[in-house]
Amino acid sequence: MEERKPSQTAVAAAGYRAAHQVLDGGRIFSDPLACAVLGPEADTIIGALTGDAAHTRARVFMAARSRFAEDSLAVAVARGVRQAVVLGAGLDTSGLRNPHADQGLRTFEVDHPATQAWKLKRIADAGLSAPASLIFAAIDLEREDLGHGLLAAGFDPHQPAFFLWLGVVPYLRPAAISATLRYIAGVPGAEVVFDYSEPLENYPPDRRAEMVALGSHAAQAGEPWLSHFDPADIARELKGLGLGDQEDLDVAGIAVRYLGVPAVGPAAPGPHVMRARRGEGGR
Ligand SMILES: C[S@@+](CC[C@H](N)C(=O)[O-])C[C@H]1O[C@@H](n2cnc3c(N)ncnc32)[C@H](O)[C@@H]1O
Repeated sequence: MEERKPSQTAVAAAGYRAAHQVLDGGRIFSDPLACAVLGPEADTIIGALTGDAAHTRARVFMAARSRFAEDSLAVAVARGVRQAVVLGAGLDTSGLRNPHADQGLRTFEVDHPATQAWKLKRIADAGLSAPASLIFAAIDLEREDLGHGLLAAGFDPHQPAFFLWLGVVPYLRPAAISATLRYIAGVPGAEVVFDYSEPLENYPPDRRAEMVALGSHAAQAGEPWLSHFDPADIARELKGLGLGDQEDLDVAGIAVRYLGVPAVGPAAPGPHVMRARRGEGGR
């Protein structure tokens, strides 16, 4: 992504979460700050992300990935985890809301410096204030060392941590993704939730055209998609790092879990949201 400009795809992701509140009543994922962080242009942004089936699919997926991540975080907190790291946070509001602050959960928000500075202004302009449990660390995952940056921000790499990494993996090069996963795997008791997209050649022609259009919007915003994964390959990479306790939800799995749709047929290619933790399986 471009060095000095705040992320435009972060506006789109936040816009879909806000649209989910307005159009779907937050049925899958409730975020009372989703519209506020978008600022006075919230209605315009939501309007531009509404109206066709592709937008509806994106809205459901983005609501579901946040729900899946935050539900998994709640389980981790119940198990004793007290550090959360939001990688490539954009306008994600989980650290602002922190429902686990009373249990001592601290949230570290990592983002590209330009996007983080813009978010801080967004928070102030919206009249919101960051709770004491929220710590900001401006780190470029392509060029800087995540471990050094987190350590400087007060993160304790010897204590368990939960990493939320939503909407970021497609925008990083494979080397930066592997380096980030290696770091996460080295934190004792670490768990991560991230989403990824399958290679476009896996998609049927009609859906591939939809994905190509989405990808070209992102590229025009200066944030091209750089990485895709076959589900078996990413599962193997995680397992090789010791993150063998995995849960990979594809769009069909999301529909079953969050929309109450009966399970049908074999999995269709598309975006996935993955939870991985050290171990062999089960929770
Ligand atoms: C599509 S947005 C997703 C934002 C947020 N996680 C969400 O779900 O709303 C992509 C995010 O990745 C961040 N990002 C992209 N490249 C990055 C890099 N090299 N280092 C740190 N953050 C990066 C962008 O700044 C942006 O916040």
